[in-house]
Amino acid sequence: MAQINGSTKDRSNLIPFSSRLREGRALAQDVWSIFNAANLPHDCINLGQGYMNFAPPEWIQEAANEALGTVSASHYSHPRGRPRLREALKKYYEPMIGRTLNTEKEILVTSGANEGQYSVFVAFLEEGDEVIMFEPFFDQYLPSVTFNGGKPVYVPLHPDTTSHKTTSNDWVVDFEELRRAITSRTKMIIVNTPHNPVGKVFTQTELEKIAALAEEFNLLIMSDEVYDTLTFDDKEHVRIATLPGMWDRTVTVGSAGKMFNATGYRVGWLEAAAAGLEQIVERKFLEKQRREYSERRQVLIDCFDSLGLKYTRPEGSYFILLDIGAITWPEDYPFPESVKGRGRDFLACWYIATEFGVSSIPVSEFYCEEHVSIGERYARFAFCKDVETLRQAACRLQNLRSVIKTDA
Ligand SMILES: Cc1ncc(COP(=O)(O)O)c(C=O)c1O
Repeated sequence: MAQINGSTKDRSNLIPFSSRLREGRALAQDVWSIFNAANLPHDCINLGQGYMNFAPPEWIQEAANEALGTVSASHYSHPRGRPRLREALKKYYEPMIGRTLNTEKEILVTSGANEGQYSVFVAFLEEGDEVIMFEPFFDQYLPSVTFNGGKPVYVPLHPDTTSHKTTSNDWVVDFEELRRAITSRTKMIIVNTPHNPVGKVFTQTELEKIAALAEEFNLLIMSDEVYDTLTFDDKEHVRIATLPGMWDRTVTVGSAGKMFNATGYRVGWLEAAAAGLEQIVERKFLEKQRREYSERRQVLIDCFDSLGLKYTRPEGSYFILLDIGAITWPEDYPFPESVKGRGRDFLACWYIATEFGVSSIPVSEFYCEEHVSIGERYARFAFCKDVETLRQAACRLQNLRSVIKTDA
């Protein structure tokens, strides 16, 4: 209640927010604020939000420091991104894409993948255009689409809930369902491979089917490939832009933050990313990084296996979905208001973080309201942490044994 000139009239809603904020869930408390270190016990191990607890490689830090010391890197950049970085992106991606890239027309540097995606929606969406996204979806798509007048249309990936050993490949698209979701207002399909939070690496066949629909209905593909360097078990990352006919209807988005373990750099502004791309092959950086992430993934896999819990073995990205259907808690457990009335996963994640000291993210947040029942079965654990931290987390999680019901 603000007091102006002695008046106690409530002025908190004097200028109402635009309805776009509500539609984009921007007025509700988001999952990152609820499961934030500030709200959880101080010694809770954070496997929630997907950022690393280790620094970028030293040679990337050195390049960033070097750039900070230069005059040119301290001032306005070229609007499409610094030429050195665009040149480095061209050289790095050309062999993978199998064509010559034009740095003026085909490469745009943005402040992180999020801004890149936002720019795609700004550039292509008219009011009421429909955007198909697979559920679970990276939560930022929703505000980015709705703020630009788009209408999200959700097509769930269907998990295999019957077998005990599941991989991310067992989360499948029902292509008839996808076809039925397309209307005369559909403008684009968002593809995210490797996928957050499932870890699914879409197969060539799946991408070909999506491509065929894009051709048939003249749709744009926004391909979010921020985890393109993080695939496991020899799984091949296929770029939908390289499939026949798809170059002209695909915008591919990448992230130096994910690639170089530097999520706070926001690509390009220090040119460290350019140095990274220039040296990435010679240093065999990605091979080493993949091995390290595989080892990190294994710590959680071993932990969940020893607990006998179901989970999705991810073939890409750095997340594991744990099936929390078997986790129980006392009926009168004192949950805070922020998680009450949300999916069962919000309660489970809160309970695990508070009582067992390891935070994770409830997966129903990555679904529309009608499909919460699919997502609320899972908690997302990020393994972009050092092995020692993950081992400590695994050790704590062993205590879950006492709250697992055996007939689930
Ligand atoms: C699927 C996906 N896309 C995009 C982003 C955002 O990337 P950036 O940090 O480069 O904006 C993330 C970050 O978590 C992500 O998981």
